[in-house]
Amino acid sequence: MALYYDETSYTFNEFLLVPNLTKKSNTPDNVSLITSLVRYKKNEGTPLKLNIPIVSSVMQSVSNDTLGISLARNGGLSFIFHSQMIEKQVQMIRNVKSYKAGFVKSDSNLKPDNTLKDILALIDKTGHSTIPVTEDGTPIGKLLGLVTSRDFRITKDPLDKKVKDIMTPYSKLVYGRKGISLKDSNNIIWTQKLNCLPIIDEKDFLDSLVFRKDIIEHDNYPNELLDSHKRLMVGAGINTRDYKERIPELIKAGADILCIDSSDGFSEWQKDTIEYVKKNYKNMYIGAGNIVEEEGFNYLADAGADFIKIGIGPASICTTREQKGIGMGQATAVMKVNEARNKYFKNTGIYMPLCADGGIVQDYHITLALAMGADFVMMGRYFARFDESPTNKIKIGNNYVKEYWAEGSNRARNWQRYDLGGSEGLHFEEGIDSYVPYAGSLKSNVDVTISKIKATFANCGANDIKELQEKARIIRVSAASIVESKPHDIIPKNYNEIAEY
Ligand code: IMP
Repeated sequence: MALYYDETSYTFNEFLLVPNLTKKSNTPDNVSLITSLVRYKKNEGTPLKLNIPIVSSVMQSVSNDTLGISLARNGGLSFIFHSQMIEKQVQMIRNVKSYKAGFVKSDSNLKPDNTLKDILALIDKTGHSTIPVTEDGTPIGKLLGLVTSRDFRITKDPLDKKVKDIMTPYSKLVYGRKGISLKDSNNIIWTQKLNCLPIIDEKDFLDSLVFRKDIIEHDNYPNELLDSHKRLMVGAGINTRDYKERIPELIKAGADILCIDSSDGFSEWQKDTIEYVKKNYKNMYIGAGNIVEEEGFNYLADAGADFIKIGIGPASICTTREQKGIGMGQATAVMKVNEARNKYFKNTGIYMPLCADGGIVQDYHITLALAMGADFVMMGRYFARFDESPTNKIKIGNNYVKEYWAEGSNRARNWQRYDLGGSEGLHFEEGIDSYVPYAGSLKSNVDVTISKIKATFANCGANDIKELQEKARIIRVSAASIVESKPHDIIPKNYNEIAEY
């Protein structure tokens, strides 16, 4: 006979946190959101951490190299999507790993025989007025000089004046050698009163440029998530079909961690994939999922997963529940798996980090997920709205939107995510193609989200995630309370908001 669960399953929206005493030490400044990313043994501590408890979804419309760089600079981690050719995913991983904050590749270059007219055209095209002059005019050619807007006068100099007669020549340039730290570059820039320091290799070929303004900006990223070589960290999504070909290449490219991307992770294919990684790559980590209850959790934990992802059907673009009738309300799923994880810890002494994946709509849903037992959350819709996501920004009416499509949509055709063996291909869709409101830069949004989370921690009298999980008091709310939670019974002054209420 079928098993009938006694409970109803709920979503984050149906819960609120009840404040605890806020001590004077419970200020947002004192809150640490550092969290465990991979399993560890009791009393040992995790070998891999996140500086903020947020990762981005394994999705074409979310996690590419640009978003990966930006999120890691802000303390989180992206899992670069796998529904693309192996070489393309590898290149994205390489781009994140080779990114060096403050060291930018030059995009405006000329040769000594070019003219002032070429300089002006280039400035018009790129908007950048620092132009390295290289032997072959490429960003990696032998450096011969540097042109800045202070080197010429448009009103006096003829347009055919040669670049070689305008530039500051190599012999008079201050430069740094490849391998120099950002701190030492900074010192040179300040002591020599420069705006830009070219970095060249041992043969005098241009490597990158360091700008004064970027160094000042760098101080705005105190949470950068770095590996032991001070490179940004990045994860890679994988599937249970081509993993034997894909994983070796991703690891060679420098991926710090892998994550099996699947709508239903309670499968023997996931076990095989985890075992393959554990057998062949002793130092590589692999997350698995998605599951929603104890048996699925135990299966993946025993198979050797390093973190486990929770969520079937809660995502904003998801139609899995409609199409197949499988899943569970996401808040209940997190609470259930949390219980299983705690039991597992007690029995085995192994702490297994949990990731709540999908269905995060309000920033406080992140705090709720953490309070209910998640160690970090995965989001797609949230990130798709930002400048850094890979999708088009489009104007519709008076508003800007960005495209956001599901991996199980006809557009992404990521059939491997829904692989149940058998023939290849997507037989029906499990997600849709949509728009989300454009929201600006990742940094400005993540900063606000983190401020809200820290403020809630202070309200709950907690200074870190473990303390929140121990102390949190959580209450279910009625449908009427959810209505009451929004502004009500007033006329908003902002005309645009009237439509909403
Ligand atoms: P969101 O943050 O609510 O938009 O959810 C993002 C999550 O949706 C991802 O991390 C995936 O787990 C999930 N997802 C991606 N594509 C699909 C799909 O086609 N169907 C169902 N879920 C999906």
